[in-house]
Amino acid sequence: MKKVILIVSSIFALMALSGCGDSPKSKTVTYKYTPAEVYKETCAHCHGDKGEGKVEKKAPAINKKIVQELEMDLFDIKKGGLGQSTATEHEVMEHNMQKLTDKGYDYDINAMANYIFNAFNINK
Ligand code: HEC
Repeated sequence: MKKVILIVSSIFALMALSGCGDSPKSKTVTYKYTPAEVYKETCAHCHGDKGEGKVEKKAPAINKKIVQELEMDLFDIKKGGLGQSTATEHEVMEHNMQKLTDKGYDYDINAMANYIFNAFNINK
C-alpha cells in the first residue's frame, strides 16, 4: 500500500515538474520566494527545520504526510476551508498565512507540498 502511495506521489511530483498538473486556465502568478526559501524563513520557525514540529509553538509535525495530504492542508489554510485531511479548521494557520502573504511569503500549494514531502518526509 505504501509503495502505491509513493508511486502515485511521484507521478504527481513529475507532473508538477513538467507543468502538466497546471490547468491551462490558471493565471500565472509569480512568487517572490521559492518554497525552500519560504519554508526556511517562515515555516521552520514553528514547524522546525525538518518539519518535525514544535511543541512550544503548538505546531504539528508535517514530516509524515504525503504530498496529497499536504496539498489539502495547504489548500485549506490558504483558502480558509475546513480541514479535509485532518478535520481541523486550521484557524491558527490561516491567520499565520495571511500575515505571511502580506509580507510577500506566498507560495504555490503544489510546489510547497512537494518541497515539504521531498525534503522532510521520514517515511518515504
Ligand atoms: C507562528 C507559527 C507557525 C508558522 C510560522 C507556520 N505554521 Fe503551520 N501550523 C502552525 C500551527 C499552530 C498549526 C496547527 C493549527 C492549525 O492547523 O491551524 C499549523 C498547521 C499546519 C499544517 C497542517 C498540519 C496538520 O497536521 O494539520 C500545515 C501543512 C502547515 N501548518 C504548514 C505550514 C507552512 C507551509 C508554513 C510556512 C508557509 C507554516 N505552516 C508556518 C503554526 C505555524
